[in-house]
Amino acid sequence: MKKEDIKAVINEAKTDINSLDLESFRVKYIGRKGLISDFFSEFKNLSIEDKKELGPILNEAKTELNDLYIKAKESCTKDKKDFFDYTLKGNKIEVGSLNPATIVLRELCSVFKELGFQIIEGPEIENEYYNFDALNIPKDHPARDLWDTFWFPDNLKLIGEKDKGRCLLRTHTSPVQMRFMEKNLPPFNVIVPGRTFRYEATDARHEFQFHQLEGLMVSENINLSNFKIIIKEAMQKIFKGTRKMRFLPSYFPFVSPGLQVDIECFKCRGKDKKCPLCSGSGWIEVLGAGMVHPKLFEIAGYPKGKYQGFAFGIGVERFAMVKYLIDDTRLFNSTDLRFLKQFK
Ligand code: DAH
Repeated sequence: MKKEDIKAVINEAKTDINSLDLESFRVKYIGRKGLISDFFSEFKNLSIEDKKELGPILNEAKTELNDLYIKAKESCTKDKKDFFDYTLKGNKIEVGSLNPATIVLRELCSVFKELGFQIIEGPEIENEYYNFDALNIPKDHPARDLWDTFWFPDNLKLIGEKDKGRCLLRTHTSPVQMRFMEKNLPPFNVIVPGRTFRYEATDARHEFQFHQLEGLMVSENINLSNFKIIIKEAMQKIFKGTRKMRFLPSYFPFVSPGLQVDIECFKCRGKDKKCPLCSGSGWIEVLGAGMVHPKLFEIAGYPKGKYQGFAFGIGVERFAMVKYLIDDTRLFNSTDLRFLKQFK
């Protein structure tokens, strides 16, 4: 037995104290059959000189290892108070999901961006002028009844637009058409994603708050075929050819001619006269559109006859309904997790 042997054991113990469990450490070093005990057995057979030299070293080693053990044991019991068991099962963290209307709105935006449209926005609190008058819907025009409106009190006006009539929650995204045209000359292709509001009773097809995506393409020599190609392309990208659609003539005061696009009713396929989605017609209207009325170009101050354009307004929730086979539009705002969780 040499001094170095004892030192080597101490060094080893200093590493082991961090890696071995306490009981194994005790048995290996300071137990009855441990390494210190082995040294003491050997010690008996040493010469007197060696005993003199190694005796104090061996005693010190014994104390050092004992201290090491006791300290480690103490700190273990102290740590118990703040002990954190990493093997325990954790609480499940709920991960949220996007509303299907948001999913479709984003998808529409990226499809139209690919087709060369620029995204613009407008205010949700509008005034009478942009929501109606500038869209060729004068005050006494019966078409105003098409849009049941949430009005603000008379005395509230938008800053800087006091002369533009009463305030309201926009009933559609179309007012952004005139806001944009007032400030920009063609050619341009823009889309307006946004929230819209109608003061009306809700049912499977109608909500008082929903989303639209407005589109406006104005240039020279634009006609309805341009519109048809763009819309067909967008529909193809979203529905991948899985939905039947049709173009129908329709009426909106800010376009001429006006039209609408319908998609086949997925709920009854025209077989149920009482169908809450199509009332038995077999078709669900998903967007309104048309060639921009010359009156709007006049209001925007464009030279007479120089430009043509088409506009469209997509019902975003309607698109989502047809895409995901959702048969009640009230579900989008229901906050019902059983519904929302399906769109993770
Ligand atoms: N703004 C119309 C609505 O809310 C939809 C619409 C129809 C938008 C024709 C348009 C359009 O841009 O050209 O019912």
